[in-house]
Amino acid sequence: MAIEIIATGSYLPQHRVTNDELAKTMDTSDEWIRSHTGIGARHFAADDEATSDLGYKAALAALESLAPGKAAETAQTIDMVIVGTSSPDYYGFPSVACIIQDKLGIKNAGAFDVVAACTGFVYSLETASGMLMAGNRKRALVIGSDTLSRITDWTDRGTAVLFGDAAGAVILERTDAPGTGTGRRGIIRSILGSDGSGAQSLICRRGGSRNPWKTGEVIEKPSHLEMNGQAVYNFAVKAFTDTLTRLLEEEGITMDAVKKIIPHQANKRIIQAASKRLGVSEDKFFMNMEKYANTSNATIPVALDEYARSGDLKKGDLIMTVGFGAGLTYGGNLIVW
Ligand code: ACO
Repeated sequence: MAIEIIATGSYLPQHRVTNDELAKTMDTSDEWIRSHTGIGARHFAADDEATSDLGYKAALAALESLAPGKAAETAQTIDMVIVGTSSPDYYGFPSVACIIQDKLGIKNAGAFDVVAACTGFVYSLETASGMLMAGNRKRALVIGSDTLSRITDWTDRGTAVLFGDAAGAVILERTDAPGTGTGRRGIIRSILGSDGSGAQSLICRRGGSRNPWKTGEVIEKPSHLEMNGQAVYNFAVKAFTDTLTRLLEEEGITMDAVKKIIPHQANKRIIQAASKRLGVSEDKFFMNMEKYANTSNATIPVALDEYARSGDLKKGDLIMTVGFGAGLTYGGNLIVW
């Protein structure tokens, strides 16, 4: 029994903003953003687009790729909808997963969101894999979707230049292919980690039960993320390096066996530092942050979709995902395509 990714899809909102365009409204430059992050542009959701709208379109793309012209019928084969997100349509509830389940007209599926910030897709994939492994469900729709532009502090150039909006989706299926031994396929193993002592390094302080909005309070700024960039950077390089090393050691293989690493697309410098520490060529890492910036839960599934559609990814190829995010969280998946 194997838990395989049988389809991928993604969605980028139409509105694209380059670094030069951002520099017209804030004290920054294309040169600074590129040299410090590798980011060249980002897409922003339209005013009437929320996180579920992006996730819905990515899910449709995945369903279409599985059975062209039959997305509505294929949706009925889904037993579970799981959405990794940090910017849900509504705080608390209802979940983004329920909104997408309803839009797709899926009748017999559980639906819930996973909150692990930018590691959310890695967590969601492992969660879905475990639930499918249990045996009484066959297919899961796993989505990473975020509109971080809605929780960005546009007066803070240290964070505002980093993020974009997007969604990616995969369809996971329990198949009869071998999950272990020769010819094994699917999600082979995952690492999920956390270090809550770093919670203050990347945080949305207002609006939750710790610090709720009060009746009559004058709101100076909407809810927004705050980040200690240097602390997150240092954590990220170590989390990337340790997660990839541990996944290889636990599987008893070396990096030579790995075709591609699909990392969280936060910052090119984080990936370069990790590749140097690991002694692995930068080419091993799939990178597209130049086009889309950091789209949080969406970076890995969007990159996976792009890589899968590039034609370079073949059946039997071994790939790895690796991510980090607020929490602080980190993790990775080892997958045979
Ligand atoms: N444009 C121009 N100058 C800027 C900008 C900007 N957008 N932002 C900061 N600067 C200036 C600072 O003011 C500072 O100036 P000073 O030296 O005169 O004081 C200088 O650039 C250096 O600032 P640093 O913050 O030290 O820059 P650093 O090299 O650390 O890079 C960065 C900042 C890119 C944010 C880096 O720390 C980083 O990538 N950290 C990790 C962030 C990350 O990945 N977050 C996503 C987490 S995933 C999730 O869960 C959402």
